[in-house]
Amino acid sequence: MPSVVVVGASRGIGREFVRHYAEAGWQVFATVRQAAGDLGDGVTELIADVTDEASLQSAAAAVPDAIDLLILNAGVGAREMNLASIDAAAWPHIMATNALGPLLAARALGPKVRDGGTIVALSSTLGSIAANTGGGLYSYRMSKAALNAGMKTLAIELRRRRIAVAVLHPGWVKTDMGGAGAEVEVADSVAGLTRVIAGLTAEASGALLDYRGNALPW
Ligand SMILES: NC(=O)c1ccc[n+]([C@@H]2O[C@H](COP(=O)([O-])OP(=O)(O)OC[C@H]3O[C@@H](n4cnc5c(N)ncnc54)[C@H](OP(=O)(O)O)[C@@H]3O)[C@@H](O)[C@H]2O)c1
Repeated sequence: MPSVVVVGASRGIGREFVRHYAEAGWQVFATVRQAAGDLGDGVTELIADVTDEASLQSAAAAVPDAIDLLILNAGVGAREMNLASIDAAAWPHIMATNALGPLLAARALGPKVRDGGTIVALSSTLGSIAANTGGGLYSYRMSKAALNAGMKTLAIELRRRRIAVAVLHPGWVKTDMGGAGAEVEVADSVAGLTRVIAGLTAEASGALLDYRGNALPW
């Protein structure tokens, strides 16, 4: 039975990853910040906050060796549309959650991923510098651009273990973060993302892809 750890699974895209893989018969480990108890039959719930490395290490201790897939999904939104609205006090938390958090989660849980396995992080097209035509959203864009740089670097570090690493854009998805006016249903996003994940290879590690499998500019 293949196995997956989903980091940040309480709601939205992370929760749908859990539902998808559990229904497909995978062994699923799901981290949440507060005990939920309703993630589904057979799903192992673990408590972790990506800004708290000790909690990530505790969660990792409960995960068996040689898992197939690690999904770094946790993230927070931010709405700074211009320089005037930048909220300096909010930045440490945004950067800690979106940029550093996934790397700390990869440090704790990466050793549990089998050689030849897969690690993905949920980023955003808003983290693309080349595709930034709209402006705004300073801290969110910058945190995801930093995440992209970190995951690309991780892809290179994990080459020796033949682990496929990818950065994924889920689309603009109807979740608490994306809002009701978003374009993509959660189930459609995750259906696409899981297809993309299934096609990842160590040879093509370090890619930035959307949920349809299109390569995005960095
Ligand atoms: N929705 C979109 O349109 C969209 C577009 C591009 C990228 N993304 C990315 O996709 C990912 C999932 O987004 P979503 O739309 O599903 O967002 P969401 O509905 O707001 O859910 C965010 C998830 O991240 C968890 N989380 C937040 N801070 C955390 C922390 N410090 N430690 C552990 N978990 C934490 C939340 O847990 P709690 O319930 O405990 O807060 C929740 O499970 C994010 O990385 C987001 O940036 C989303």
